[in-house]
Amino acid sequence: MKWLTAFALILGSTMAQADGDKFSVPNHPKWKEECGSCHIAYPPQLLTGDNWQRLMGGLDRHFDANAMLDPKDNKEILDFLQRYAGTGGRNSSSSLRITDTPWFSRKHREVSINTWSDPAVKSRSNCTACHVNAERGDWSERGIKMPGGQRAEELEGQSERGSYRRGENREHDRD
Ligand code: HEC
Ligand code: HEC
Repeated sequence: MKWLTAFALILGSTMAQADGDKFSVPNHPKWKEECGSCHIAYPPQLLTGDNWQRLMGGLDRHFDANAMLDPKDNKEILDFLQRYAGTGGRNSSSSLRITDTPWFSRKHREVSINTWSDPAVKSRSNCTACHVNAERGDWSERGIKMPGGQRAEELEGQSERGSYRRGENREHDRD
């Protein structure tokens, strides 16, 4: 059984490190254009296929906006989202918000209330306020710049604690 433990450990740490870039998807210009005009085109992996289906079924009343598409484009984008969708409860939310999923809360539990309400952030949905390289598909810790003048050394400590914490939570990271 020893090899199994070793394998699980290797797998766990590889996945933890790959976290930042595991949201890459093949280029899909229509999705990028239609779903990236008002906000960043959110990675398909961050909601379940069911969530995407419901979201794409209600684009005429999409949060505060009307994001209606013609049926052909809608289907093409839904197919793409579902192909790369996340699975399981951690990526599911009844509000259809990534920011309400258990995954999001866990990843962001060290972000303070003050930071979320910082004028430069405004909304949790505004990923690129902090993930400054996310448009290029880089969600890694190295690509995070906190607004509100949070000092570099604070971030250092944060990412150190982050790695430690992920070590403890490997069990959850894999589900
Ligand atoms: C006309 C503008 C507009 C377009 C186009 C648009 N959205 Fe949105 N979207 C919004 C607004 C506004 C919100 C709410 C943002 C907030 O609460 O800060 C939102 C929120 C979201 C959220 C939830 C974000 C969170 O809080 O976790 C998802 C998921 C989403 N959009 C997906 C899509 C997809 C997929 C498409 C393409 C089919 C799309 N959007 C196109 C305006 C738009
Ligand atoms: C207020 C700034 C801020 C906003 C806005 C924000 N994040 Fe984050 N994000 C962080 C911080 C800080 C971390 C945690 C770093 C740590 O503790 O290791 C993080 C972690 C992550 C990680 C894990 C990175 C890794 O390598 O472990 C991902 C992926 C991520 N966020 C995606 C998103 C998405 C998607 C959105 C928008 C729906 C978003 N974030 C909005 C600050 C932010």
